[in-house]
Amino acid sequence: MITRIFDPRENGITAAAAVLSAGGLIAFPTETVYGLGADARNGQAVARVYQAKGRPNFNPLIVHVANLELAKQFAHFNDLALDLAAAFWPGPLSLVLPLRPDHGLSELVTAGLDSVAIRIPQHPTAQALLKAFGGPLAAPSANPSGRISPTEASHVMEDMDGLIDGVIDGGACAVGLESTILKVTDTHVSLLRAGGVSVEDIAQVIDRDIATPDDPAIPQSPGQLKSHYAPRTQVRLNAKTIETNEVLLSFGPDCNAAAMNLSKSGDLIEAASNLFAYLRKMDSIALDAGANAIAVSPVPMKGLGLAINDRLTRAAAPRN
Ligand code: TXA
Ligand code: MG
Repeated sequence: MITRIFDPRENGITAAAAVLSAGGLIAFPTETVYGLGADARNGQAVARVYQAKGRPNFNPLIVHVANLELAKQFAHFNDLALDLAAAFWPGPLSLVLPLRPDHGLSELVTAGLDSVAIRIPQHPTAQALLKAFGGPLAAPSANPSGRISPTEASHVMEDMDGLIDGVIDGGACAVGLESTILKVTDTHVSLLRAGGVSVEDIAQVIDRDIATPDDPAIPQSPGQLKSHYAPRTQVRLNAKTIETNEVLLSFGPDCNAAAMNLSKSGDLIEAASNLFAYLRKMDSIALDAGANAIAVSPVPMKGLGLAINDRLTRAAAPRN
């Protein structure tokens, strides 16, 4: 793949927005770090983000939007969230809020949670791109998993050249540190990640205690919870045969006995984009059939297979 460099002063924004609409991946500057953007409603596009980053797990991603009106299509804002939005948006703050039932986002973005992280970035290039695109962009930092977040287009090219469709060169990021992530519910405000907006500044706006990550009452990053997003039915992994009382979720071409197939052609991007929805469907198939387990065919441990297996392992973990 050839990675194009777009100039925001020419017609680079329009061209990049068209690539995003076609399901492509575009890195773009925000005031914090460069994000790797994909249409948050397109499961295959979001799966490619995980693939390009080589992320070994499906942690939920931040959804970037141009304005509050659009943000309200995806999440429920209580008064506290509205106060925070008024004070810090556009800017380096992400709010984790309850998902609306009709959100239309890919489950790879939310990792199947009932909340979503939303941010309105301030950087003029990010704003222009979001307006031209007109929808929600899922965007983690545009670096390979485990590497340092990029704050210049050249950093993105060093790490991601050939892996993504393009990067918009908007110069260096002013903040250079990721956004602060706050989870807001009707009863609690908790800091999930320290970042570009200080806790002191947040405390000026809300008259409530802010729980910090060390607080044992606050769950850690949701992707890390072991039995997170487990179906009700037991899950058996790396099933090469199917037992009585099992239903099979397969992967790859030769699986006639399968109730569902993550990807008949063995395409890991397709499998990743199907994963959450199929686990959910397999659960109701299993319950209807009176099955006592969902057997899952082996998924190769390469590329997106690492993240798929990570999520499957959590689904199969002992319940608590
Ligand atoms: O500054 C930033 O926030 C950059 C720019 C590109 O916007 N983005 C970024 O995204 O740092 P990422 O994917 O590297 O970090 C997203 C973080 C993860 O730690 C994830 O666990 C958390 O957001 N997150 C997303 N959705 C969540 C949710 N529903 N509940 C809790 N945490 C969530
Ligand atoms: Mg990151």
